[in-house]
Amino acid sequence: MRIGLITGGGDCAGLNAAIRAVVKHAVGSYGHSVIGFRNGWKGVADGDVLALTRQHIRGVLPLGGTLLGTARYHPHEAEGLDAVRATLEAERIDALICIGGDGTLHAASKVAELGINVIGIPKTIDNDVAGTDASIGFATAVHVATEAIDRLHTTAESHNRVMVVEVMGRHAGWIAVNAGIAGGAEIVLAPEAPFDMDRVERFLRHRHRAHASFSIVAVAEGAQPAEGTSMTFTTELGRYGEIVAGTTGGRVAAEIAARSGFDTRVTVLGHIQRGGTPLPADRILGSRFGHAAVEALQTGRSDVMTALRGERIELVPLAEIAGKVKYVPDELLRVANALA
Ligand code: F6P
Repeated sequence: MRIGLITGGGDCAGLNAAIRAVVKHAVGSYGHSVIGFRNGWKGVADGDVLALTRQHIRGVLPLGGTLLGTARYHPHEAEGLDAVRATLEAERIDALICIGGDGTLHAASKVAELGINVIGIPKTIDNDVAGTDASIGFATAVHVATEAIDRLHTTAESHNRVMVVEVMGRHAGWIAVNAGIAGGAEIVLAPEAPFDMDRVERFLRHRHRAHASFSIVAVAEGAQPAEGTSMTFTTELGRYGEIVAGTTGGRVAAEIAARSGFDTRVTVLGHIQRGGTPLPADRILGSRFGHAAVEALQTGRSDVMTALRGERIELVPLAEIAGKVKYVPDELLRVANALA
């Protein structure tokens, strides 16, 4: 087989482990060829090819980012489907493995509708790909955010301050909730549970009167005030309708400071959560997904995504998960709030 391989959407830690597993297993176990395309779907549309050998994957396990490069380009939204088909025919690609988040995998399901064999592998620090318990990159992002909260704790306590920390998560608050629990944030604001600033203020005033003189507030970039409550803001959107990171934390911090008079600071973690050395958990998940994607092709499967379900890796139809968001369940949100 000639297997195509792309990484699309935002990068994260653990992508190189998945690339390595695909190349090692496909070439080493079965004698297939793996043809990488640079910069996600854009590279497929443009025919930007990198034939992958063992040489390319040597020493990549500890490396963040993606050796293939990535881009936010979706061929079905950019009239690129014909170009994608033409490149895949010219390169005699039998099947394409797409490592991506919701956008890249949605595009994969559109390409599959053309009759092209596609296997998806879920990755995103946001952990919001439907159908899988976890996506590549999430564990490392939670680790980075937790460490940041730990560091903010000591300086918050020294200065008697409220520290607002904004983490990534446009549609779902997985990082905010998990790092908030692990780091002991007093308040966690996630897109799934629109907040009431009056309650936030009451909580902080009570805490600072009764228990402590500092607090940590973890805010997902997509968190919003509940309709009809005293604070209003509309999330800032970019050119493609995407949420612009970095504004939510600042607004929450300004509101807390204005209402309570507490000395308040904001830290926006941003892309620090995406970069750097992958945790073992992401290297292992990437390796398992890469291995499973090659096995899926070997057994004649296509138009499916590798998914972690409990302890097992399973295959779920791309059509079932395309365009869906996996939200933080109520139980986890309740834990984050109850332990404040
Ligand atoms: O890949 C997901 C994500 O990290 C989101 O959490 C964040 O909102 C977005 O990407 C940032 O995108 P960009 O890298 O294009 O600024």
